[in-house]
Amino acid sequence: MEKRIVVLPGDGIGKEVTKGAVEVLQAVGERFGHQFHFTYGSIGGEAIDTYGTPLPDETIQHCKDSDAVLLGAVGGPKWDTQPPHLRPERGLLKIRKELNLYANLRPTSYYDSLAENSPLKKEYIENVDLLFVRELTGGLYFGKPSERVEKDGKEAVVDTLYYQKSEMQRVIKLAFELAEKRDQKVTSVDKANVLESSRMWREVANEISEQFPNVELEHMLVDNAAMQLVTNPKRFDVIVTENMFGDILSDEASVLTGSLGMSASASLSEDGPSLYEPIHGSAPDIAGQNIANPLAAILSAAMMLRLSFGMQEEAKAVETAVNQVLDAGYRTKDIGRSVNNYVSTSEMINEVKAMILDHEAIMHIMEAYS
Ligand code: IPM
Ligand code: MG
Repeated sequence: MEKRIVVLPGDGIGKEVTKGAVEVLQAVGERFGHQFHFTYGSIGGEAIDTYGTPLPDETIQHCKDSDAVLLGAVGGPKWDTQPPHLRPERGLLKIRKELNLYANLRPTSYYDSLAENSPLKKEYIENVDLLFVRELTGGLYFGKPSERVEKDGKEAVVDTLYYQKSEMQRVIKLAFELAEKRDQKVTSVDKANVLESSRMWREVANEISEQFPNVELEHMLVDNAAMQLVTNPKRFDVIVTENMFGDILSDEASVLTGSLGMSASASLSEDGPSLYEPIHGSAPDIAGQNIANPLAAILSAAMMLRLSFGMQEEAKAVETAVNQVLDAGYRTKDIGRSVNNYVSTSEMINEVKAMILDHEAIMHIMEAYS
C-alpha cells in the first residue's frame, strides 16, 4: 500500500519522538512492502515563531490532503505569556476542529516489565486494559462565549459548556462499537447530579445502549470515576466521557501502568484523515537532550497503522517489538526506576526498528504474545 502521512513535530520533545515514529514506520514499510510518504508541517510555538500563528492555513490544507497525521507535542514556557489566540495549544484545538477529530482514543495497557514504575501496587494494575474515548471537539473547550465580562459592575468571566445532541451520539456510539470488540462494558462518565449537559449525556448513553444488547452500560459520576481509577482500575473496559472530564481522567489513567511516556492516542475524524499523537506534552525541561521516551509516539504510529490503514499485522508487529524491547530491559529514564544504564531516545528507536526488521525473531515473538 501507499500512504501519505503528514508529520507535525511541534515543540520540545515533539521533534525527537516523532522522528522515532517516522523511522519505525519506515521500518514497517520496508518489512511489509508498503510505501509511506512523509511530509512535514508546522504547528504550535514553532509555527508562531515562523508564521505568526499556531496553525497556518497551509498546515490545515496539507493535513486534509493526507491519509493520516502524526503529531508530536505543542507548547513551552517561551509562549506562556502570549495572548490566548497566540498560544501553541490553540493550534492543537484548531486542528482538532478543522479535521473534525471527534473521538480521542487513549488506551491504557499493562506492561508486566514496567509494573514497578506504577504508583500503584502490582496487584491493582496487573492486566489492566482500559480504553478512554474522550469527546474532542465540543464542551467547554469550544463553547462561546469564553471571555472576561463585566456584570453588575463586577469583574467576571464566562466559559460555555455547549454540546449538540448529535455530538454526544456519535462519540458514545463509537464507544459501544469499540466495547463490542473488547470486554463488552461501557462506563459513561458524567456529572448528572449537577450539570444539565450531563443529564442529556446520560439520556443519550441510555438510548444508544439499546442498539447494543451485548454491551453492559454503567453510569458513573466523574468524581467517583477519578477515585475508582486508582482504587479499582481493573473494573473498567471502555470509558466514554465529554471533553474536559476526558482530559483530566485520561492523564490519571495513563500513569497507572507506568509512565506518561508510554501512552499513545488516536484522534479519529468523522470524515477525513485521523490524527495520532502521544499523550505527553512537549516536556521543555528535557527537550533536545536525547533522553525522551519515544515509545508513546511509536505506539501512536501503531494505532495509525491499525485504525487508519487497516494494517493489523503491521500494528501488531510494532507493539510486539515495543514489548520485546522492554522485556529485554531497555529503558529510557522515565521508565527506568530499576536500571542504572538508561538508553537514549535514539538508542530506543534503533532497538525497536531492529526488532521490526528481524523477521524471524518477530514471528517467533508474535506467537508467544498471541
Ligand atoms: C491533551 C492536552 C490538550 C488538551 C492541551 C494541550 C490543549 O492536555 O491533549 O490532553 O487539553 O486537550
Ligand atoms: Mg490533557
